[in-house]
Amino acid sequence: MRWEEEEFRKKFDVRLWGRLGRFAKPYTGSFALLILVMVVVGCVDAVFPLFTKTAVDQYMAHGTTDGLVGFALVYLGLAAAQGALVWFMIWLAGGVEQGLVHDLRRAGFDRLQKLSFSYYDKTPGGWILTRLTSDANRLGETISWGLVDLTWGASLMVAIITAMLVLDWRLGLITLAVVPPLAWVSWYFQGQMLAWYRQVKKLGSELSAAFSEGIQGARSAKVLGREDGNGLEFQEKAGRLRAAAVKSAWFSALYLPVVLTLGSLGTVLALGFGTPLVVAGTLTVGTLVAFAAYTVQFFEPVRELARVLGELQQTQTSAERLLRLVETEPEIVDREGADLASAAHTQVHGRVTFENVGFRYGPGPWVLQNFDLDVAPGTSVALVGETGSGKSTLVNLLCRFYEPTTGRVLVDGVDTRDRTQHWLQSRLGYVLQAPQLFRGSVRDNIRYGRLEANDAEVEAAADLVSASPFIRDLEHGFETDVGEGGNRLSTGQKQLVSLARAVLANPALFILDEATSSVDTETERLIQDAVEVVLRGRTSFLIAHRLSTVRRADRILLLEHCHVVEDGTHEQLMTRRGRYFALYTEQFLAEGEKRVLEAEA
Ligand SMILES: Nc1ncnc2c1ncn2[C@@H]1O[C@H](COP(=O)(O)OP(=O)(O)O)[C@@H](O)[C@H]1O
Ligand SMILES: [Mg+2]
Repeated sequence: MRWEEEEFRKKFDVRLWGRLGRFAKPYTGSFALLILVMVVVGCVDAVFPLFTKTAVDQYMAHGTTDGLVGFALVYLGLAAAQGALVWFMIWLAGGVEQGLVHDLRRAGFDRLQKLSFSYYDKTPGGWILTRLTSDANRLGETISWGLVDLTWGASLMVAIITAMLVLDWRLGLITLAVVPPLAWVSWYFQGQMLAWYRQVKKLGSELSAAFSEGIQGARSAKVLGREDGNGLEFQEKAGRLRAAAVKSAWFSALYLPVVLTLGSLGTVLALGFGTPLVVAGTLTVGTLVAFAAYTVQFFEPVRELARVLGELQQTQTSAERLLRLVETEPEIVDREGADLASAAHTQVHGRVTFENVGFRYGPGPWVLQNFDLDVAPGTSVALVGETGSGKSTLVNLLCRFYEPTTGRVLVDGVDTRDRTQHWLQSRLGYVLQAPQLFRGSVRDNIRYGRLEANDAEVEAAADLVSASPFIRDLEHGFETDVGEGGNRLSTGQKQLVSLARAVLANPALFILDEATSSVDTETERLIQDAVEVVLRGRTSFLIAHRLSTVRRADRILLLEHCHVVEDGTHEQLMTRRGRYFALYTEQFLAEGEKRVLEAEA
């Protein structure tokens, strides 16, 4: 919510809109055409009262109907042409709107793919989502339809003013005296209406957030005796929402009567000063009728202009936020020349070295300091330690999801920053605790590891990690749709699929970060066996909660407060009878106890 409460800028920011220019550029032709069409539509709108004038002055005043059919046909033709133009304009502007929204989303999305992990630490997901949905929509809408309304309103106003002054400049000047107050009132009311409308929307979303919090937290609030406190907070929000809604309704209700009254003042002026002129014979009846029509017609473009300008000001906030996303530079970028070095360095042996590494997440406290580690090619390393001891941080640095603040991380003796991110990441297999699957079939999800792999290779990878039995049991086997984010599969199944994907990629380095901590013991055993096969001969980092999973690793590192406190094989660490021994026996006993209890039950 806090992120939403940014104030609207008051001033029109030319440079900001200039930065949006690159998004408008592909539509320059459409924009030009739209402007042309709207100028024509605006001018034609102003011509219709002149037809009335002609009918009155030429036919009624002279008591003749000669050529009336032709006159009517011209009128009809013009109205039809106007209709066709409006249809064309709506079609064109709709296309531009959709195109713009699409391009803005695309740009935002592409940027999100490039941004480093650190960006996601700082930016709430909800904020990003709003940029790509409502801000992109609002911008596309305002730019395309705003342009249409602005051009139409401005040209209709200019046309009406011109027509009035040409018909009778004195009467024109008198009648137009209501325009400045009309414009000011419209501007004021539109501004108030928009501001209150937005306020209502903002408070509304705050209230639904409070609602859902209240629903989810009802139970714990009860337990903690916080029901009353939550109720007060809710009541306060609901009260503010009601007040804002009343205010908004008040302005909306008042606007039309005020503007209409002001508009009739124009009509009164026209008739009041025009009628004597007609009586004196210096003004035709038709002209007076046209004037009366213009005074009524005038208020529409004034209202539109006020609305569009008000909206433009508010859209500026959307523009600013969306541009902030689109123009964020990733913190991790490839160095110059890294692409050439990477292209030449194809064979990776898998030596991993941390050299005097210091690291902190952004401005936070130091997580690692003077950290050294050397892992020989082909070694399987298990990282164990309590939550927060730095296991994930180590592998994040190895993957270059973050860069060390000081010191170096080396693969095969070269600084990973001297290679491209793609080089490193295409040589890394990474299986996370919460595996990411994509919409599509199981087969496609596995193939994502190496897009050029054929069906046989995909199935071989699944076999290797013992995923095949469960996959063949699915409704359509390998062709089964895994659903949004893979949610039609269980976590264990998702992990097997992502393991198969990693195997297919055949990486030199393998990382499993708590890949088995949320699956049942049986699946864990499956995965464990699979992992053994997969890791053979590769450098691997294995992070697991259950120590039984890691005992076969070549090297076990016990981390405490981001320092390696014990380092050796399972047997070595067990004979040392230190921290690892204590942890292991503790877990072993606890699990044994659980087994006994389960057996009894
Ligand atoms: N994205 C992050 N931003 C800030 N601090 C972090 C972030 N991730 C981890 N930390 C901090 O770094 C330390 C090590 O965490 P982590 O490497 O995740 O430990 P583990 O994986 O062993 O549970 C902890 O103090 C944790 O609070
Ligand atoms: Mg972790």
